[in-house]
Amino acid sequence: MAARWAPPAGLILLLLLAVLLPARADRPARTGHADDDPEASSAVFQLYGNVYPHGLYYVAMSIGNPAKPYFLDVDTGSDLTWLQCDAPCVSCSKVPHPLYRPTKNKLVPCVDQLCASLHGGLGKNLKCDSPKQQCDYEVKYADQGSSLGVLVNDSFAVRLANASIVRPSLAFGCGYDQEVGSSTEVAPTDGVLGLGSGSISLLSQLKQHGITKNVVGHCLSMRGGGFLFFGDNLVPYSRATWVPMARSAFRNYYSPGSASLYFGGWSLGVKPMEVVLDSGSSFTYFSSQPYQALVTALKGDLSKTLKEVSDPSLPLCWKGKKPFKSVLDVKKEFKSLVLNFANGKKALMEIPPENYLIVTKYGNACLGILNGSEIGLKDLNIVGDITMQDQMVIYDNERGQIGWIRAPCDRIPNENTIHGFEEGYCWPQFPSSIFGIQNEECAANYRSNKE
Ligand SMILES: *[C@@H]1O[C@H](CO)[C@@H](O)[C@H](O)[C@H]1NC(C)=O
Ligand SMILES: *[C@@H]1O[C@H](CO)[C@@H](O)[C@H](O)[C@H]1NC(C)=O
Ligand SMILES: *[C@@H]1O[C@H](CO)[C@@H](O)[C@H](O)[C@H]1NC(C)=O
Repeated sequence: MAARWAPPAGLILLLLLAVLLPARADRPARTGHADDDPEASSAVFQLYGNVYPHGLYYVAMSIGNPAKPYFLDVDTGSDLTWLQCDAPCVSCSKVPHPLYRPTKNKLVPCVDQLCASLHGGLGKNLKCDSPKQQCDYEVKYADQGSSLGVLVNDSFAVRLANASIVRPSLAFGCGYDQEVGSSTEVAPTDGVLGLGSGSISLLSQLKQHGITKNVVGHCLSMRGGGFLFFGDNLVPYSRATWVPMARSAFRNYYSPGSASLYFGGWSLGVKPMEVVLDSGSSFTYFSSQPYQALVTALKGDLSKTLKEVSDPSLPLCWKGKKPFKSVLDVKKEFKSLVLNFANGKKALMEIPPENYLIVTKYGNACLGILNGSEIGLKDLNIVGDITMQDQMVIYDNERGQIGWIRAPCDRIPNENTIHGFEEGYCWPQFPSSIFGIQNEECAANYRSNKE
């Protein structure tokens, strides 16, 4: 899912309507062992963008033959990769690059298993009357936006860790008729990079082609940019916090299961929250009860120097005596949140103020955790980019687990640093009062990296 709060132009929500349909059996079988393909390599991509003001992180990918560059919004909350496309285009937004132009021989027929998987993932029945028929699809978003498209197959350039470039033919959507919900601005990207666990996902296709393992990770830097990787070469297995993937009641989303919520070391007393991790959402969304509890706790704890103020960027903002320049100016006025996951051992995700606040261009500090009920999310809680910043987050479909670890995300690893890459990583810094597992030395290193 790509859920966007785009200040100040209004609310752009690329939120798949199918979000509330029951889960489908589209998740690829897990092999249990990650060693079944000794040939598989890893690939690292630079990321661009930020939480504010861009509202998204994206990669540049070379697609087609001859290869042309496209910007794709990195979305671990949906499966289908798609580009705005000249098929010809009935209705497209203005995008950064010339529209992708498919040729007839690139159409994926509707009898292809990937077409069935795409429709399964969208909760639709597939109508396929003849083997020559193309694979049409429609995705609908919560802000009334939608995209009509056709599945095509073209080559993606992927640079492996050893500097070899491979060009597998992968299936993706060619979207030729978009209804844009609320904005007519230039779209920041040419399309979406779907990294969910369904078999149409680019990640699953790279695994199918024996190129990388079914593992993807991202490291979103607070200073903007960061990196994305496929495969498991970079994964700090022994140091990250791991939780088994839960089967989300909400389709194929990556879920570490349910968590209880702490604020400043105290339980907020809300019922366990079902959490999904979604890089396609710039902000974090809590359902009604935890949202209410959090807002009450924050307001009750606020220092006298902060005053609530209205700011077009987000619903709940505060100003100080002077405008803030960055979150660092205000973070000491706020306490950390912690999500404590029931399925793991000491599986905590710390959310320090810089992972839930933004400072706007008006110098106000605003809460980057939003009320999910307002966009119809019901009981689902979405951990979005703001909360995953400066952590490496790993979605390991091979072992069926999700991991995270604090990391310096603006250092992009290359082949030479891959094996020494764990050096810069620390245990997360939890409030020792409740969990008693703080690592002071690491915390100190980490701060000196950032300031
Ligand atoms: C790089 O790795 C891939 C897959 O592991 C392999 O097929 C390729 O030959 C390697 N290239 C070089 C230059 O070693
Ligand atoms: C995609 O294209 C490649 C090469 O042209 C072909 O081998 C493969 O079968 C195609 N896949 C699909 C799903 O159409
Ligand atoms: C969250 O949104 C729901 C639905 O619009 C609303 O009823 C509720 O009052 C909101 N909660 C808070 C704390 O604003």
